[in-house]
Amino acid sequence: MRPRAPVKSTRATRRPRRSAPVPYLPAVAACASGFPARAPEEATVKSERGKPSRASHVEMTEIVMPADTNQHDRVWGGRVMSLIDKAAAIAALRHSRTHVVTALVDGLEFKQPVRRGHILRLLAAVNAVFGSSMEVGVKVLSEDPLTGEQAHCCSAYATMVSLDAAGRPARAPRLLVRTAEERRREREAGQRRRDRLRRRAREAKRATGGYSRGR
Ligand SMILES: CC(C)(COP(=O)(O)OP(=O)(O)OC[C@H]1O[C@@H](n2cnc3c(N)ncnc32)[C@H](O)[C@@H]1OP(=O)(O)O)[C@@H](O)C(=O)NCCC(=O)NCCS
Repeated sequence: MRPRAPVKSTRATRRPRRSAPVPYLPAVAACASGFPARAPEEATVKSERGKPSRASHVEMTEIVMPADTNQHDRVWGGRVMSLIDKAAAIAALRHSRTHVVTALVDGLEFKQPVRRGHILRLLAAVNAVFGSSMEVGVKVLSEDPLTGEQAHCCSAYATMVSLDAAGRPARAPRLLVRTAEERRREREAGQRRRDRLRRRAREAKRATGGYSRGR
């Protein structure tokens, strides 16, 4: 067989250059990663400018089923904690559009029991962004299905960390705070972060033996 003559490269036969724009396929990206697809403009432009608090807002509704309750027909605390974690993760995901993990949830106090058949409403939003970490506030309300009366079950502050593709902490987009309420939440979140970091440093010192009781 005679070797083929080399094909002369023309505009029609040339391979596309590596830098040629690749069409964006949101549905494919979402399936492949298991995380919400990221539109290119959201991934770059918006994250540079920052994102408003409302972009992270979450409202979740659940009805308390028998499997969610203890022998006194009241919801398990762990069930509420799991819903809090989920709502916080969704708020952080909506803000960062990256993978996120829960680093810490501040102490939880259950103020009111929630009964079987009642409706749980969880409201979550990013309060502040620091570097890779964000504080997400979650408020849990219970609603009597027959009267519509609502009660405050508990509130929680979750520290969520944005991760890069290799699983390392990565800077999250800035939070654009506009209203007085948003500014107050951001300020208070900053105070709580200082307390957490102080506690973390103390615990690290104690773990390495550098902490003496009574100090
Ligand atoms: C959270 C985690 C990513 C932090 O990683 P790390 O190597 O300690 O990284 P860093 O010290 O740089 O912390 C990253 C950010 O988290 C913050 N952070 C971590 N632990 C914190 C704590 N206990 N309190 C407050 N902030 C904390 C840091 O302040 C930092 O925030 P910043 O970037 O805004 O300044 C890592 O500890 C981890 O993967 N933990 C497991 C998370 C997980 O799997 N959760 C699901 C439940 S098991």
